[in-house]
Amino acid sequence: ALISLRQLLDHAAEHGYGMPAYNANNMEQVHAVMQAADEVDAPVIIQASAGARKYAGEPFLRHLIIAAVEQYPHIPIVLHQDHGAEPAVCFRSIQSGFTSVMMDGSLMPDMKTPSTYDYNVDVTAKVSEMAHALGVSVEGELGCLGSLETGMAGEEDGSGAEGVLDHSQLLTDPDEAADFVKKTAVDALAIAIGTSHGAYKFTRPPTGDILAIQRIKEIHARIPNTHLVMHGSSSVPQDWLEIINSHGGDMGQTYGVPVEEIQEGIKHGVRKVNIDTDLRMASTGAIRKFLAEHPKEFDPRKFLKASTAAMKDICKARYEAFGCAGMA
Ligand code: G3H
Ligand code: 13P
Ligand code: NA
Ligand code: ZN
Repeated sequence: ALISLRQLLDHAAEHGYGMPAYNANNMEQVHAVMQAADEVDAPVIIQASAGARKYAGEPFLRHLIIAAVEQYPHIPIVLHQDHGAEPAVCFRSIQSGFTSVMMDGSLMPDMKTPSTYDYNVDVTAKVSEMAHALGVSVEGELGCLGSLETGMAGEEDGSGAEGVLDHSQLLTDPDEAADFVKKTAVDALAIAIGTSHGAYKFTRPPTGDILAIQRIKEIHARIPNTHLVMHGSSSVPQDWLEIINSHGGDMGQTYGVPVEEIQEGIKHGVRKVNIDTDLRMASTGAIRKFLAEHPKEFDPRKFLKASTAAMKDICKARYEAFGCAGMA
């Protein structure tokens, strides 16, 4: 059944686990997320970005989730809209049946320019008022995702600011977070701690100076009843990077957020962990490998099956690592 993000994250807080929130835009990704959840008895958060809505189209996306609910009636599913650029985007998603929306007011509607604090409060409070009246949950974001190494926002795909960010924007301020939550009534708050979207997060395995897990603890101490969200939380698996590059791919050396660091965050109030890149890499690696090893194959179901299995393995591993296995 579809449930709201608030319902699920309240349960997660009560039982001390974190939820991976997987981005999806096609059937294979939804299959992978659901098969993994079914095998380990985990609840599900599937989220759709603006890019996903553009790729699949709103009706197809909606019906993929309806299909998941129908096939897995015993698994609670949150359908979350990722990074809404303005209130109208969130209102359309609510109308379409999403049970949770993110108003990303950290950026202006162009999704490239950091916003002012007052603007962020204004648009997020507006979405909360409407969403809550309809039983839909709201995630806000305070601080801008970006690298503490370079000051860059990460991939330029419309999901993050472009160019160099001010250092003060790269780490969420705990006092400001408390004020923000009070003024906006968000159910969950995405915080900036040095992660960024996409595969190129860190040039070396991250240490405390470039991945500020300590900041999570400071924010959680200030707003213990707010569910914290980590964006840009793919771990960028080195084994998949290697498989991609040894089968015709050309990705640069790069590092993601180690699972152990996410587990540390979960001990300190992180309840939703956004993951997209890891599934993309597993899918691409599995397809490259399958086609290289089976050059005569031309039935797409064969390589898509390999892709689904690879994504499912990652999903299962995260469900287990974040403590949500057995929680459905
Ligand atoms: O928000 C970040 C996700 O990775 C979305 O990416 O806009 O390419 O679907 P996308
Ligand atoms: P990754 O690019 O690290 O998978 O992050 C996805 C994300 O934060 C979606 O909102
Ligand atoms: Na989100
Ligand atoms: Zn994100």
